[in-house]
Amino acid sequence: MPQQPRKTTSGRAPPKKILDLTSDADFSVCSWLVTIIAFIFAFLTLPISIWLCIKVVQEYERAVIFRLGRVKRGGARGPGLFFIIPCIDSFKKIDLRVVSFEVPPQELLSKDSVTVAVDAVVYFRISNATISVINVEDASRSTKLLAQTTLRNILGTKTLAEVLSDREAISLQMQSTLDETTEPWGVKVERVEVKDVRLPHQLQRAMAAEAEAAREARAKIIAAEGEQKASKALADAADVIAQSPCAIQLRYLQTLNSISSEKNNTVIFPYPLDLVKRFFYGNKKPAIKYH
Ligand SMILES: *[C@@H]1O[C@H](CO)[C@@H](O)[C@H](O)[C@H]1NC(C)=O
Ligand SMILES: *[C@@H]1O[C@H](CO)[C@@H](O)[C@H](O)[C@H]1NC(C)=O
Repeated sequence: MPQQPRKTTSGRAPPKKILDLTSDADFSVCSWLVTIIAFIFAFLTLPISIWLCIKVVQEYERAVIFRLGRVKRGGARGPGLFFIIPCIDSFKKIDLRVVSFEVPPQELLSKDSVTVAVDAVVYFRISNATISVINVEDASRSTKLLAQTTLRNILGTKTLAEVLSDREAISLQMQSTLDETTEPWGVKVERVEVKDVRLPHQLQRAMAAEAEAAREARAKIIAAEGEQKASKALADAADVIAQSPCAIQLRYLQTLNSISSEKNNTVIFPYPLDLVKRFFYGNKKPAIKYH
């Protein structure tokens, strides 16, 4: 039965392993001969060749050694000192530190057909120096290009509201998708952050107008509710004042008092309420006499 390729979560088959290190690098007779000659040559010219044999890599670097074109068994060397045989060995230094990289702003169309410009930051490092050298030509550049296309692909499946509110989820999804693809390259994507989501100016204006209208509507409702309560309270107050005729007199004096303190230069002319009380009570005698 033919074996089905394993499906990953993104629905794609994982990239084929290009090089299988388990196949033992068995040297042919010729290779042996060349190796022995190189050894002898290096030994005979020891005082000079010693400087070509000793190599050093930094704490954060590893060296992948190729002997006659084949990767030397035992993995990448380092950090510190390691030896090579001149003429038949070559090596490549790999930096294992985390690389931060800014994905340039991507103009893309969201699911609900809004153009947005999104940029992101990606942090990755080489997790396996050997396979990052032999499986991909330029691991760093490939990861950067992949980050751009992944950003577009993932944001293309989201609506504008999701892009604006679900940044955390988008970052996580991007990180896992990227990491899955870069695993065969010996690259570990540690973190992806969506930095900025920019909307077109026209849409920004429309959204601002919408928010403003909503706020205005709320303000009007609150004002109307206040009005309603105030009118009830006023009606209550009028009822109370109407019940006791002395109250209107007191209110009148209070008003005079407030006018005199506020409007400094206004001339106050107290108008006797006795003159107007006839309009309220007719010829009836009021319960309380005004003097
Ligand atoms: C790197 O990958 C190779 C091949 O898959 C494997 O043999 C080796 O152990 C890995 N090295 C590390 C440090 O994981
Ligand atoms: C009232 O007017 C006088 C003179 O015009 C001024 O000095 C004073 O500050 C005023 N008082 C108030 C409470 O406005």
